[in-house]
Amino acid sequence: MTAPETDPETLRRRAGDALRTARERTRALTGCVDEHELTAQHSPLMSPLVWDLAHIGNQEEQWLLRAVGGHEALRPEIDSVYDAFEHPRAERPALPLLPPKEARGYVTDVRDRVLDVLETVPLRGAPLVEAAFAFGMIAQHEQQHDETMLITHQLRSGPAALTAPEPPPAAPDADRLPVEVLVEGGPFTMGTSAEPWSLDNERPAHPRFVPSYFIDTLPVSNGAYLRFIEDGGYDDARWWHPEGWERVRRQGIEAPLFWWREGGGWMRRRFGVVEPVPPDEPVLHVSWYEAAAYAAWAGRRLPSEAEWEKAARHDPASGRSRRYPWGDADPTPDHANLGQRHLRPAPVGAYRAGASPLGVRQLIGDVWEWTASDFLPYPGFRAFPYREYSEVFFGDAHKVLRGGSFAVDPVACRGTFRNWDLPVRRQIFSGFRTARDAESA
Ligand code: AVJ
Ligand code: FE
Repeated sequence: MTAPETDPETLRRRAGDALRTARERTRALTGCVDEHELTAQHSPLMSPLVWDLAHIGNQEEQWLLRAVGGHEALRPEIDSVYDAFEHPRAERPALPLLPPKEARGYVTDVRDRVLDVLETVPLRGAPLVEAAFAFGMIAQHEQQHDETMLITHQLRSGPAALTAPEPPPAAPDADRLPVEVLVEGGPFTMGTSAEPWSLDNERPAHPRFVPSYFIDTLPVSNGAYLRFIEDGGYDDARWWHPEGWERVRRQGIEAPLFWWREGGGWMRRRFGVVEPVPPDEPVLHVSWYEAAAYAAWAGRRLPSEAEWEKAARHDPASGRSRRYPWGDADPTPDHANLGQRHLRPAPVGAYRAGASPLGVRQLIGDVWEWTASDFLPYPGFRAFPYREYSEVFFGDAHKVLRGGSFAVDPVACRGTFRNWDLPVRRQIFSGFRTARDAESA
């Protein structure tokens, strides 16, 4: 959503648009496979698609119908089935799930009533409704599960169920870009207190001093990552965090997930299509351990979360932190690869219009970027509206990812947005770029 807006009609329209956009995507992801595939467990790492579908409706019911609209529960008996904390993903296929037809009926019923609430509820007064926050939060929640469901599609076997046009090529200047840029040491404003639909962990805005550093102009490509593989990177303990090393040994990991060697080259499977690994695409499906090992091998390191955000938001000319690398305007298809418009990252060097003032490209969209940082609260953090969104995940178990992938919608992606996951995760749409300290004079 663009800069603070208070006109209630504009807010209602934006909230309605965001909810509709999410639902179109949810329908596409759940409408392209048969009933059996909707209820099947494609991977123990993921829920059946039909669980995500009804969970989307249940969250919407709890927040927009009950909390905002003051409605009674439509089906109180299903709340516990769709509570993510009560049931780990691997166990969800065994739950008494609503069958596909009922799940579709339920989410449609909830949505019809929500649109009535949106027409009539005052959009100021209480923090939950101020600037239509709860509606924006629920649109983001649905889009986050749409990304999760796309991961399930990537893990499923069988022929392709989804198709999309190819992303744009690299810009003509891609070969001439400097490999890294210097970000001068100094303070910048991290986080936000102004973005109306920002989630609790992005708040509040606060000053951070960041010493001078260099950061890659582009995400690390498959071609660059292949040099690490061919140099024996997976066989050399020197580059690895001990836990990462233990894991690649035990599981025999020797390349990103979904890759295999064939006839002297490398192939991969992407949404049911088998193809040679494209060298100029950002590397995808690597764990934090793999990203950190590559960076060590390259004589570099992962950027901290603050370094990533300063590169993405700080405008050296004004000293201000902006909403996106290119400024304050909402993303368009010229700026970034977002929203499942394409089912792959664009080649490194694409999206010249999305570059930061220093010329750093593809910070937003294409691949989630692992950072060196643990997922921790900002000074002054307050859980809102529920502790289970962020607060229960704070600590050293989860690493922060920034910037968003091709699979996430603009409503759930901005310069301040924080994602997190376990450092072993590699089925997510994760890649990275590297950084290094700048020698002080
Ligand atoms: C922010 C992507 C880590 O998927 O676990 C969805 C988002 N939270 N439902 C997740 C979320 C509750 C969350 N991530
Ligand atoms: Fe959820």
